[in-house]
Amino acid sequence: MAETFLRLGLLLFLFLLNISDCCIAFTPADNYLIDCGSLTNTTIDRRVFVADTSLSWRLKTPKDITANNTRPSSVSSLDSASLYLNARIFTGASSYSFPIRQQGKHFIRLFFFPFDNQDFNLTTSKFSVSTQDSTLLLNFQPLPDSTTSFKEFLVNIAHDNLILNFVPARNSVAFISALEVVSMPENLILDTAQIVKTKGTFQGLAREQFEMVYRLNMGGPKIFPESDTLSRTWHADGVFLVDASVAKNVSYSGPIDYVKGASSPETAPKLVYSTAAVLASQNATVGGVFNVTWKFSVESGFNYLVRMHFCDIVSKALNELYFNAYINSLSAASNIDLSAIASNSLHTVIFMDFVIDVPSGSNNLSVTIGPSNMNNADPDGLLNGLEIMKMGISGSGTSSESSSKSNIGAILGGAFGAIAVLILAVVIFCSIRRKKVKKHEGKSFPPSSINGGNSHILESKPCVGTTISFRQNTDTGYRFSIAVLQEATNNFDENLVIGVGGFGKVYKGVLRDEMKVAVKRGNPKSQQGLNEFHTEIELLPRLRHRHLVSLIGYCDERNEMILVYEYMEKGNLRSHLYGSDLPSLTWKQRLEICIGSARGLHYLHTGSVKAIIHRDVKSANILLDENLVAKVSDFGLSKTGPELGQTHVSTAVKGSFGYLDPEYFRRQQLTEKSDVYSFGVVMLEVICARPVIDPTLTREMVNLKEWGMTWQQRGELDQIVDPRIAGDIKPNSLRKFGEIAEKCLADFGVERPSMGDVLWNLEYAMQLQETEADDAEVNSINNISKISPQIEKISSFERSYDRGIGSTSLNDLSDMSMSRVFSQLIKADSRHKQNLD
Ligand SMILES: *[C@@H]1O[C@H](CO)[C@@H](O)[C@H](O)[C@H]1NC(C)=O
Ligand SMILES: *[C@@H]1O[C@H](CO)[C@@H](O)[C@H](O)[C@H]1NC(C)=O
Ligand SMILES: *[C@@H]1O[C@H](CO)[C@@H](O)[C@H](O)[C@H]1NC(C)=O
Ligand SMILES: *[C@@H]1O[C@H](CO)[C@@H](O)[C@H](O)[C@H]1NC(C)=O
Ligand SMILES: *[C@@H]1O[C@H](CO)[C@@H](O)[C@H](O)[C@H]1NC(C)=O
Ligand SMILES: *[C@@H]1O[C@H](CO)[C@@H](O)[C@H](O)[C@H]1NC(C)=O
Ligand SMILES: *[C@@H]1O[C@H](CO)[C@@H](O)[C@H](O)[C@H]1NC(C)=O
Repeated sequence: MAETFLRLGLLLFLFLLNISDCCIAFTPADNYLIDCGSLTNTTIDRRVFVADTSLSWRLKTPKDITANNTRPSSVSSLDSASLYLNARIFTGASSYSFPIRQQGKHFIRLFFFPFDNQDFNLTTSKFSVSTQDSTLLLNFQPLPDSTTSFKEFLVNIAHDNLILNFVPARNSVAFISALEVVSMPENLILDTAQIVKTKGTFQGLAREQFEMVYRLNMGGPKIFPESDTLSRTWHADGVFLVDASVAKNVSYSGPIDYVKGASSPETAPKLVYSTAAVLASQNATVGGVFNVTWKFSVESGFNYLVRMHFCDIVSKALNELYFNAYINSLSAASNIDLSAIASNSLHTVIFMDFVIDVPSGSNNLSVTIGPSNMNNADPDGLLNGLEIMKMGISGSGTSSESSSKSNIGAILGGAFGAIAVLILAVVIFCSIRRKKVKKHEGKSFPPSSINGGNSHILESKPCVGTTISFRQNTDTGYRFSIAVLQEATNNFDENLVIGVGGFGKVYKGVLRDEMKVAVKRGNPKSQQGLNEFHTEIELLPRLRHRHLVSLIGYCDERNEMILVYEYMEKGNLRSHLYGSDLPSLTWKQRLEICIGSARGLHYLHTGSVKAIIHRDVKSANILLDENLVAKVSDFGLSKTGPELGQTHVSTAVKGSFGYLDPEYFRRQQLTEKSDVYSFGVVMLEVICARPVIDPTLTREMVNLKEWGMTWQQRGELDQIVDPRIAGDIKPNSLRKFGEIAEKCLADFGVERPSMGDVLWNLEYAMQLQETEADDAEVNSINNISKISPQIEKISSFERSYDRGIGSTSLNDLSDMSMSRVFSQLIKADSRHKQNLD
């Protein structure tokens, strides 16, 4: 045993020795450093920021001007002060276009210093900055009071050029003081990280776009770009310490070891690892054992990638130091023994990646190091560095096909050679983000010998939650053999086709145990389909909800791409509204269906660590089971894919024209609120029972949204209600319903309610329908408004229930109609009121 270890250790030692002289410094293929608005080049720490006045990659536009800072003294004390002496000001939408030599990951760094100018007050400027693919800054306002603002993004560029757009807000200007577009090593961000809340593995980070929000050197001074091989800045941690008295700074001047394949100076400079914050010496006998916590203010509603950098520079011997790490008070890793993770070595670089979601309503992100509760461990703990990156700053997709050619060059020529984790349809589609990196992309990864070093180190203690995960497919659904599905569908009998979509055909099938299923068979020739197929089989099994269509299994035998879903007896909602001779649904049935689908969407948006945006909400994608229970279907699969740049738009326009969020269309920026918009259109369909676009009608009637909103805004929605239900809708219920639809259809996403709010408002509309039944209770509305705190409570209960995925006790509750809960509350409240009277 001991011998094996010894040999392993020796092998590793030789391995390290072997590679120690091979490490080629990273040379960025693209390296644009620009001093904007300047007439002269500016050199900062041997990096030349080129004047942009005469350079060709500034798109010709009449809308930009240069400005000099007339009070240079205002910046003299700042770092890189000479970058802030000039600015380029944009009075209208303008762009820079940078030729990209090597597609793949890049840093985009933006520097702003808002000085007073006789023509424009930059302090009050407000603007957005975007690339072809992503919105980097939306309605950004620089910090006032002569302070600089610095923004850094990690983006994938899959084009031959990068277009950086500056768009001023109305009555404002945009400006930029300096900027950098610099290639980044492809393997700096790994594809997987541990999800703190669920302890699951987050996959797909390689395709994410990030904004770097905090980068800290613990226990030591600020590290300037010139001391970092990637010109990064590492700030001191002091101001973020919640209680500095329980922390202590330590430093170390001996050697720091990187592990080839797992870390390098590009991970972080040695300076970061040679200092650390540790738990201040504590007297355990008197119970004086404290956690050290750093607290950060972050934007809510996003996931964050948190990278902790460690290097045991305090232990005198192996296995001396054990500690725990927490993020937002949740355990991230416990009983960390850095010396064991580093295969029995000290002062070796280790980092761990975690994904945490910061839900809306909270702006706090805290990172804590605390003593281990392991017996005999002296209470101590350390942290050397910390990076916090906001995930998903993204917009529309990019083409991976167009980038494959240059990838080959990259693989041959790049020192890191790891370009090309190709950026499928980047990021607009949250669902895609969870997709694993497929095998065939492995060829562009670093050579396996390097990976070997990596895995050896990290695998030696997998329980710590390090960044490498080899587990895949652990929670995908049941795998069918093709024979079973041939039998179930009578060998894909055309007579059993119940739907045809971009992906392929959907067949009705019956399994041997007589369970009815819907069998969706993808076209095996479509590469796009393959990506979507994997997205769906990995995403769907994790999403279990009464109001989402369940995936029963899949089949990938013989290159088939088949998905097997529960069969929905009553088909889609649209066919029950118009275009068929199915019996009309009553108003209450329609409301229940709206409530059910809203609940399904609300779950998609909030039920997992990462919001999932459906993107194709329409009445044809809301399916009904034999009891008319609504289930949302077709998520993740409908579009996406490499040729997004072209097909996506036209597919979306064809398939969902009339439902498309105009803001998404304008800005190419997808949020949950786009689903809310589409849902608003569905609500109008439900009330008017007509197609969303009907070119046979008069011009003002063609578009259901325009037409419906005209009547709604006039307060006359009742005039256009489906005549089959007009008689049984209570006016207040209709009014509420109309108001919700109108809010959902607001022009700007920020003005639209969340799906959770839509949900409880629909419950309210249902309640109005029910309570009004008794004419004696005319002031039920007043009662309802008085119990609004209780409604709030229900809605937060609903939220927490929705988040309790997979917990059966909570799932049981989903069968309980929320409207029943409401009526109980309302009754309780009116009883109480009567007593008071
Ligand atoms: C600035 O540097 C660039 C690239 O090094 C060079 O081509 C250009 O002539 C310089 N411009 C000035 C004004 O010195
Ligand atoms: C900025 O200053 C330079 C010389 O310092 C001058 O040539 C240029 O005209 C000034 N630009 C503006 C917009 O004032
Ligand atoms: C620019 O705007 C800021 C904030 O409104 C104000 O404090 C400052 O005085 C303004 N400066 C000028 C020159 O108008
Ligand atoms: C450690 O040093 C840094 C930089 O000098 C400082 O910001 C921080 O407050 C120090 N921490 C403690 C606990 O003294
Ligand atoms: C810890 O506290 C106890 C009680 O105050 C004291 O007797 C002991 O000397 C302290 N130990 C250290 C290491 O400070
Ligand atoms: C450290 O913080 C974690 C998470 O909040 C908590 O569970 C633990 O009890 C704390 N430990 C100490 C010693 O305060
Ligand atoms: C965030 O931190 C601030 C300051 O410590 C605190 O007042 C606030 O309650 C925290 N918010 C949440 C949601 O935890």
